[in-house]
Amino acid sequence: MEYIICKNYEEVSLLGAAILAKQINKNPKSILGLATGSTPVGMYKKLVEMHKKSGLDFSEVKTFNLDEYYPIKKSNDQSYDYFMRDNLFSHINIKKENIHLPNGESSDPDKECAAYEKMIADAGGVDIQVLGIGVNGHVGFNEPENELKLATHLTGLTKNTIEVNSRFFKKIEDVPTKALTMGMGTINKAKSILLLITGKSKAPVVKKLFSGVVTTAVPASFLHLHPDVTVLLDEAAAELL
Ligand code: GLP
Repeated sequence: MEYIICKNYEEVSLLGAAILAKQINKNPKSILGLATGSTPVGMYKKLVEMHKKSGLDFSEVKTFNLDEYYPIKKSNDQSYDYFMRDNLFSHINIKKENIHLPNGESSDPDKECAAYEKMIADAGGVDIQVLGIGVNGHVGFNEPENELKLATHLTGLTKNTIEVNSRFFKKIEDVPTKALTMGMGTINKAKSILLLITGKSKAPVVKKLFSGVVTTAVPASFLHLHPDVTVLLDEAAAELL
């Protein structure tokens, strides 16, 4: 796991966008694994700028998002489907049929998860997976538990994650208590991984992540087992290293 400490959020966003743009320019048919949360928003803005100003071409790019609340309507402005359209997809030339997210409207979540896992494999696997991290060490919605699931699955959210994510909802009762998420195995199958971590609130989890152990108490620690992970940190997130 390599890490790069950038000055601030802006620099993390710029460098993250440059890494993704390089991948797309190298292979216009790249398969991107994408994440939501506030961290990658700046990077998505830069990618939109690169598309508009320098013609970065998404016409052959395919995307698979990490996770989605369950159940949730795509029209709900807190769904990850809505978030991705709002922050990226509506502003670039990606084809609708090349965009994939776990379906929070599915009536059969287990079937949906199995189909999602197969779709990723059939597409040839993710070339570069973007990740954020929760303050409790979750990636996607792989929460700290005794066991971590390998494949895409339906999961419950921890009290901590519901509380942290409630900042985006009108009231805490509106936060869905479940989600569909790629598993740690799905994530670690990506050819490369780009983990973005910014802000002071993430400094304690960054310290745990780099403490030299792998533990289900910090799901992100399993990324140490992947051969090609780049972590972009800002100085605030890196302050306890
Ligand atoms: C959410 C998402 C994660 C994201 C994390 C951190 O719950 N499921 O994919 O990485 O929280 O979010 P933020 O970037 O807003 O801190």
